[in-house]
Amino acid sequence: MRVLVTGGAGFIGGHVVDRLTARGDDVVVLDSLAAHEKKPALPDSVELIVGDLRDEQAVRRAVEGVDAVCHQAARVGLGVDFDDVAAYVADNDGGTANLLRALWRRSFSGRLVVASSMVVYGEGRYRCREHGDVRAEPRRAPDLDAGRFEPRCPRCGADLAWASVPEDAPLDPRNVYAATKVHTEHLSFLYGRESGAAVCALRYHNVYGPRMPRDTPYAGVASIFRSALEAGAAPRVFEDGGQTRDFVHVGDVARANLLALDREWTGACNIASGEPHTVGDMARTLAAAFSEQHGPVVTGEYRLGDVRHVVASPDLAAEKLDFRAETGFAEGMTAFARDPLR
Ligand code: UD1
Repeated sequence: MRVLVTGGAGFIGGHVVDRLTARGDDVVVLDSLAAHEKKPALPDSVELIVGDLRDEQAVRRAVEGVDAVCHQAARVGLGVDFDDVAAYVADNDGGTANLLRALWRRSFSGRLVVASSMVVYGEGRYRCREHGDVRAEPRRAPDLDAGRFEPRCPRCGADLAWASVPEDAPLDPRNVYAATKVHTEHLSFLYGRESGAAVCALRYHNVYGPRMPRDTPYAGVASIFRSALEAGAAPRVFEDGGQTRDFVHVGDVARANLLALDREWTGACNIASGEPHTVGDMARTLAAAFSEQHGPVVTGEYRLGDVRHVVASPDLAAEKLDFRAETGFAEGMTAFARDPLR
């Protein structure tokens, strides 16, 4: 099978490429290399097209003759501030639109797998002891300043308990990147409906593992903590460290992509380990595996845009893709303490 991997020189895309080539697929990578200081090492058999998704000619060349597309390229992370909005929309919405148009012009109806994210849900799912399932409103600065980090019931103000998010939860993007991921999903599903292609959106939870990019304004917390440890500093845990995430190993995420490429299933599913942990837990586990010297510090700082708990239900991915994460939290984090970063 000839597979186009957009963003195939990147963190997740690179692991997808390794697995595809290892099983003998013919792989073409379209990557702008914008996130790379030096040329990345790709397997010899891979055809690399250096180009941006907004570059029509490069995209046209990249889609030629492919049987399946794995769309990983995107501007990721939270960015610096709202000033990034135009760049995110141009790269993620505009880039995806360009890719889909090139596929349309080629009458492509093969498999399309797109990288999405748990950020499409906004806050996760919550339950009030009194009022049952409720939606958590964005947290307010005065509460956070006072150290009240748990979202509160919109009806009675009580602290809420989290529950794991199924895929049919309402989409509620709360930052620009999240909004572009919702749009990427919607455009891709529309393409599927028009072309007959089976389209699968994988909503990644917090991915970590070897070759994760180092600390930048666009990096996730695992990379920030790992970079701090390497620089001899303590990981700085925001809020009270009780915020919950699902950390899923990049090897598992790459495997989920191959499973999705091999199936004629249309839909969106969570790609998660199914083993939630707090950020405080993650910092302690990683720091302990790195050295005995730099235990994390809990700072009480907060970022207004952050959500408190996002924990996924991994059930749909198991049912539809036969995907179950294989790398456990302790094993994965212990290895990550020594894994090379990019
Ligand atoms: C992250 C990604 C998001 C991706 C999603 C799923 C970023 C910025 N966010 O969202 O793009 O789609 O995972 O893979 O890449 N924290 C600290 N100390 C720090 C930095 C962060 O305690 O130095 C805390 C934050 O307050 C937050 C948690 O760690 O509670 C997670 O932060 P982060 O990884 O940045 O964002 P996510 O919301 O999990």
